[in-house]
Amino acid sequence: MDITYWNRAAACYDDDIFSVLRNDRNGVLLRAMERVANPRGVAGDLGCGSGIILPEVARRFGKVHAIDLSPKLVEIARASCRRFTNIEYGAADLSRRGKALAALPKLDVVVNVNVLIAESRPLREAILDNLIRALRPGGHLLLVVPSLESVLWTAARLAEWNRRRRTPRLPDKVLDSKRAREGIVKIEGVPTKHYLREELESELSQRGLKLCALEKIEYHWDTEFDEAPKWMGTPFPWDWMCLAQRSKK
Ligand SMILES: C[S@@+](CC[C@H](N)C(=O)[O-])C[C@H]1O[C@@H](n2cnc3c(N)ncnc32)[C@H](O)[C@@H]1O
Repeated sequence: MDITYWNRAAACYDDDIFSVLRNDRNGVLLRAMERVANPRGVAGDLGCGSGIILPEVARRFGKVHAIDLSPKLVEIARASCRRFTNIEYGAADLSRRGKALAALPKLDVVVNVNVLIAESRPLREAILDNLIRALRPGGHLLLVVPSLESVLWTAARLAEWNRRRRTPRLPDKVLDSKRAREGIVKIEGVPTKHYLREELESELSQRGLKLCALEKIEYHWDTEFDEAPKWMGTPFPWDWMCLAQRSKK
């Protein structure tokens, strides 16, 4: 999942890359954003991708900095958000403390949705440290990451489905993954970091952040299976949404 991967993904981004905002059944992401909205505030959508979430950020803040690793995705975001005059764009690697990050003003809110997903731990840690550095004291981090519990629950649902339709057990992504203990599970063949709730809490509290909310963003089963059976209801598969505050000092 390097710059080449994300630049390539830009070609058919909307078809290939899952959108948290578009699939959030209960509007959890927007409610969390609403909690920290500030028309005079400055926010960053850091790892903005093709800009699907950007209009929601731009409506709730005075100024928005949209940054992504992929220059191609930044250009798509810029084109799709032309009507918003309060967004500034930049291509930058969030794992490095380069010029683009250094030039940012201190942000009231950092939105970071499904960006901390690379298999490399040092890379993820560098990104997270930089996201926190980008916040002003007392600023909020709005983070969404894949849930490892949800992967296990999905595997259990698949096993139950197979029992009901008397299908021999299909390979599932958890049992196939040698690195599941680290939370690395393949999505569409790409090793992707997934988090336990407690792991996420600990990553944030170790860095001095105060947890304000940690909730599930639930999706329909069709996001996991091509044609999920009707009985496969709640609990639905989910990502973790976390709202955390940097210390005020
Ligand atoms: C799954 S997409 C999510 C995009 C967007 N947040 C959304 O929810 O629609 C992950 C994004 O993170 C960006 N990304 C990954 N690593 C990055 C890095 N080191 N620095 C900046 N952006 C990065 C990718 O280019 C990609 O656009």
